[in-house]
Amino acid sequence: MFDHDVLIIGAGLAGMRAALAAQTNGVDVAVVSKVHPVRSHSNAAQGGINAALTDRGDDWRDHAYDTIKGSDYLGDQDAISVMCQEAGQEVISMEHMGVIFSRDDQGRLGTRAFGGQRQARTFFVADFTGQALLHVLHEQVLKAGVRVYEEWFILSLIVEEGECAGAVVMEMRSGDVHVIRAKAVIMASGGLGRVFEPSTNALICTGDGIALGYRAGAPLMDQEMVQYHPTTLKGSGVLITEGARGEGAYLLNSEGDRFMKTYAPNMMELASRDVVSRSEQTEIDAGRGIDGCVLLDCRHLGEQVIREKLSQILEIARDFAGVDIRKEPIPIQPGMHYQMGGIKTDVNGLTAVPGLYAAGECACVSVHGGNRLGANSLLDTLVFGRRSGQHASDQVKQKSFASVTDASADSDLANIRRLLKNDDGGEMFGRVRQELGQTMDKHLAVYRNQQGMEEALAKVRELKERYRQVRVQDKGKTFNTNLIFTLELGYMLDCAETIAMSALERKESRGAHTRTDMPDRDDENWLKHVLVKATPDGPQIEPLPVVITDWEPQARVY
Ligand code: FUM
Repeated sequence: MFDHDVLIIGAGLAGMRAALAAQTNGVDVAVVSKVHPVRSHSNAAQGGINAALTDRGDDWRDHAYDTIKGSDYLGDQDAISVMCQEAGQEVISMEHMGVIFSRDDQGRLGTRAFGGQRQARTFFVADFTGQALLHVLHEQVLKAGVRVYEEWFILSLIVEEGECAGAVVMEMRSGDVHVIRAKAVIMASGGLGRVFEPSTNALICTGDGIALGYRAGAPLMDQEMVQYHPTTLKGSGVLITEGARGEGAYLLNSEGDRFMKTYAPNMMELASRDVVSRSEQTEIDAGRGIDGCVLLDCRHLGEQVIREKLSQILEIARDFAGVDIRKEPIPIQPGMHYQMGGIKTDVNGLTAVPGLYAAGECACVSVHGGNRLGANSLLDTLVFGRRSGQHASDQVKQKSFASVTDASADSDLANIRRLLKNDDGGEMFGRVRQELGQTMDKHLAVYRNQQGMEEALAKVRELKERYRQVRVQDKGKTFNTNLIFTLELGYMLDCAETIAMSALERKESRGAHTRTDMPDRDDENWLKHVLVKATPDGPQIEPLPVVITDWEPQARVY
C-alpha cells in the first residue's frame, strides 16, 4: 500500500495544474496516469486558451457574457465569473513558467478570434497550444518533486464511511494491483469522447473517471450536452482547429456558397460551435454537402499564415486525407469533440462525496452549460485544476488517513479474475465498443429525437448485458491491453447510459441538445440542470436550478 496526502488521477492539464498547486502548498502529492503524462489528451488541444486582458481593452465580464450566451444560458454564472476573472492570471503564469505563446506584430502575446466571442481573446501557440502547455507543466511537476505513477490504470475509488480515502490501481507493466491511500483524491482523468465513434478524442478518452466518480456516489450533471465540433476531418474524425476559421478560413457547401450567412449573418463561421455544426448538418441533409461533408477553405490565408499558425493542420490534412490545404479545400464534418457534462463540482472542485474532487473535462463546474466556447476548455482545466489542488491541499493539512487496508482491492481483484476466466464463448470487447460508438453517433449527435434516443438507450442496455459475458483472450499480466480495454469499456457503457437517459429527460432544445421533435428552448420548464445519480435501483434523474447572477436569458442569435 502507498500513502499520499493528495492523489490525483490523470496527468493532463487539469491533473498536472492541480498537482503543482497542491505540492507547492506543502503537502505530499502523487499523480496516477494510464499513459505517460505528455501523451495525455490535453496534448491534442490545438487552437488556444481564452482570457480577457484589461490592457488589451477587454473585460472579464464580456468574456463571461460570451460564455453564458454560448452555453445557451445553462452554465452557472457564479462559476463562469470565477473562470473569466482568473483567466488572465492563469495565462500569464503559464507564460512565466515557460510557454512560448505566439506573438503579434508588436511582439506582445498574440490573440486570434474564436467562435461565439466578440473579441479576439484566444492566446495560442500556433495550432498546438495544448502540447506546449502540457510539456511546460510536466517540467514544472517534475521540478516540484511530485511522484508520478506512469502507466498505472485506475480500477476503483475507495470510499470509507462516506469519504473518499484513496484508489485501487493496476501497474500496467506488472499487472500488480495496489491500494493508494489518500486524504483527498482529485479526479482529473479527462473526457469520454470515445463513447462516440468517430471522435476527435484520443483512444484513451474512455470516461474512466466520470464512471468511477459516479459509481462512488458523485452525481453527474448535464450529461446530455455533447459537443460536436464543426470541423473534423472526413472519415477519421481528426480535429481541424477552429483556429483556421479564426485566421479567416471559410465554410463552403457543394454550390461554393458561404452558407453561414444564412444561419449566423453577424458571426458567420465564428458563431458558436453548436450553431455552426447544426448549419453544416442542415446543408448536408439538404443535399448541399459533398459525400457527407462540407468544405473548409484555407487557400486564401496564404503560405505564411498557414506555415506559421496552422502548421499542424497542414500536416494532418496531408497525412490523413491527402489534401494540401494551401491548394484545396478540406472535406470536414461535425464530429464528437467534448463532453460538457461530468461529475458535478463546486468552484473548488469538491464533489458530493467528501474528499473527492474533480477538475477538467471529467468535471461539470458548470462553466460550459449547453455548449462550450472553443478555447474555454484549456482555461477550465487550468483554473479549476489549480483551485482543486489548492483547496484539497489546504483541507488535508488537518486530516489523518482513513483506516484503509489492502483488502480494499479485493473486489477489483475478483472482477479481474472473473474477466480472465470468462471463457464460455463470449465475444471480445471490440465489437461491443464499436457498436456502442456507432449507436451514440447515430442517435445522440447534432440532431436528436425521442425515438432515436430511446433506441440508443435500449442498445446501450443490450450492450451492457453482452459486456457481462465479454471474454479477455490475453491471460498474461504484463501490459495486458486486452484486459485494460475491456475494463475501459465498462466505464464507457456507464457513461453512455447516463448520456442517453439525461438526453431523454430534457424535453426541449438547448445548446448541443437539439431535438427535431422539440425544436425550441423552453426556459419556463427547462432552465435547469439534469443530474443523474447511481443508486442500487439504477440511475436516478433529478433537476437542479441553474445559477443566474447578472445575465438574464435572452434569445440567442449570432
Ligand atoms: O478547434 C480547436 O482548436 C479546439 C479547441 C477547443 O476545443 O477548445
